[in-house]
Amino acid sequence: MRWWPRSLRWQMLAALVLLETLSIGLFAVILARQQAHTIYVRSRARLAYESTSMAMQASEALQQERPGWVGLSVQMMGEGPTVAVAKVTDPAGNVLFTSKGEADQTVLTPVELAQIPLARGDQARVFTLEGNRQEGVKAIYTGSELRGFAWVEYSQIWARQQLDSMMQSTMIFGIIWIVASALLVLLMARSISRPLAILHRGTRALMRLPEGSGSFPLPVTVQNEIGELIEAFNRMVASLAEQRSGLNDTLSLLDSMLANAPIGLAFFDRSCRFVRVNQVFADLTGVALSRHLGRTLLELLPLPAAKELEDTVLRVFAQDEPVRNHEIAGKSGKAGVSWAWLASAYPIHTQPEQVRWVGLIVMDATERKRSEEALRRTEKLAATGRLAASIAHEINNPLEAITNLLFLLQNFCQLEDPALKYVSMAEYEARRIAEITQQTLRFYRQSTLPTRAKMSDLLGTVFSIYNGRLNALSIQVVRDYDPEMDLFCFAGEMRQVFANLVGNAIDALSANGRLLVRARRSWNWNDPAQIGVRFTVADNGAGMEPEVRDHAFEPFFTTKELTGTGLGLWVSQEIVVKHRGVVHLRSRTGSPDRSAGKKAVGTVFQIFIPDDVSGQVAAKETAMAEA
Ligand SMILES: Nc1ncnc2c1ncn2[C@@H]1O[C@H](COP(=O)(O)OP(=O)(O)OP(=O)(O)O)[C@@H](O)[C@H]1O
Ligand SMILES: [Mg+2]
Repeated sequence: MRWWPRSLRWQMLAALVLLETLSIGLFAVILARQQAHTIYVRSRARLAYESTSMAMQASEALQQERPGWVGLSVQMMGEGPTVAVAKVTDPAGNVLFTSKGEADQTVLTPVELAQIPLARGDQARVFTLEGNRQEGVKAIYTGSELRGFAWVEYSQIWARQQLDSMMQSTMIFGIIWIVASALLVLLMARSISRPLAILHRGTRALMRLPEGSGSFPLPVTVQNEIGELIEAFNRMVASLAEQRSGLNDTLSLLDSMLANAPIGLAFFDRSCRFVRVNQVFADLTGVALSRHLGRTLLELLPLPAAKELEDTVLRVFAQDEPVRNHEIAGKSGKAGVSWAWLASAYPIHTQPEQVRWVGLIVMDATERKRSEEALRRTEKLAATGRLAASIAHEINNPLEAITNLLFLLQNFCQLEDPALKYVSMAEYEARRIAEITQQTLRFYRQSTLPTRAKMSDLLGTVFSIYNGRLNALSIQVVRDYDPEMDLFCFAGEMRQVFANLVGNAIDALSANGRLLVRARRSWNWNDPAQIGVRFTVADNGAGMEPEVRDHAFEPFFTTKELTGTGLGLWVSQEIVVKHRGVVHLRSRTGSPDRSAGKKAVGTVFQIFIPDDVSGQVAAKETAMAEA
């Protein structure tokens, strides 16, 4: 209904006007019909009366032999406001007098003629002409002689005028009624539509919250049900605002927890995509925080770990059960630095029956794993050391007996060559065994007090340990130190340092490689006032890649998967630091061919140990002289 108005006010008005017009129209029709009937009945009675009275006047005039009076009374009757025409005829129906026109030119209509035989009685007869006109007829008697008939016909115009005037007043009344009630309805509608408009504005402002909050509370302009509705609306908005501020508090609480918790937190939807992540998680994955959202684990993390995490998340979605302390380990980077995570996943419900998200808590367990591993290895090492020491100790006793026996053989048995030569060879080898067992014992027994140790003691013993391997690989060894030069240090620990460095160099060298071991009086390159000894252990072996070089001093970092523990350099550095010394490392990989103009490959370790106790002046002089 396109024509139907859209606002409540005009709808009410239109409905009212329609209803009133219909009812007033219906009322007018009924009234008109009733009035028409009344007019019909009344006019019939009057016609009967008027025709009877004209017949009586005519009969009187005829009795008094004054027929002219009949014409007079016909004329008078014809002038009546309701009468169209009055006539008097003889008994045969010939018009004698008429109020309109000439009598001799007027004739009765067939309908009128048909009434003549019926109208002879005492009563007047009223009948209907064509065109719904009414006419009354009455017989005129003088005594018992029929002298004629008196005819009176009513004017149609009169009846219509009667009806019209009635309809007119009905119309005027109707219009006044409709206008008055329309005004009333408009006023009433205003009292409904204005507060409704206020409510409407309020609802829109509510949708725009919090910017729309200035519109509240809404003004209550009416004291009726709509006013109460507005008041209820205001109360609802106030309670909503309260709830919203509570919700905001909770959200900021959760946000700060997410941002500041010292654990990695991530949330996933059903397709395993990140919905939310905190900074710690991003730090753990090494992927920027903003790159996580909307992406899957498989898209961001390296494979075995990503798959394992994804499986965990999917399992929680499927089983609706948390997974706790699942350990995930992997390696990252070229150097293959290993890491370990402890992951727990739990379901998050927004509706009771379905898991909406899965939350993942990740903790970095790398350090813990490493220290566990370190502890394990250290214990193993200590056990091995103790075992080696006890074996060395046990060998010492029979060895001493052998040495003594060989001495006796050599000096008191007057042996001759080649027997004497063999005995001295045996004695030489027995001394070597004794030396090795001594070294083993010394390595294990840590000296508790620093002493002045000679270079021959610090470095020479290391060569005796590695002699076999050096010879087997035909390594060219350059020993560049004064065996008598001494250093105030924990000799056992310093030996361990050189054994490690030389051992690493031999591991890196191939056949016919070169190994340099040098010791010089010098000063600290960070602090020239500090005097001490600078050791250099250099090889022209395989060298280290930058990643290896960066991690070489970390505990348990090794590239010798099967043979190495990765503790050598770490322990060495600890010992140097304990002596307040410094370690420098330079290393380069590549082909050892220098003739092609390439730079030297290999590894150089430089260690400076300060000689704090004595001989500092002498040391400085020597160093200066060398420089
Ligand atoms: N002279 C060298 N040349 C080349 N690489 C070296 C050299 N010295 C050390 N490295 C590298 O540094 C890593 C760490 O050395 P470190 O001595 O700490 O452990 P390791 O030798 O592997 O094991 P361990 O000494 O406990 O038997 C080695 O695995 C090796 O890759
Ligand atoms: Mg080593």
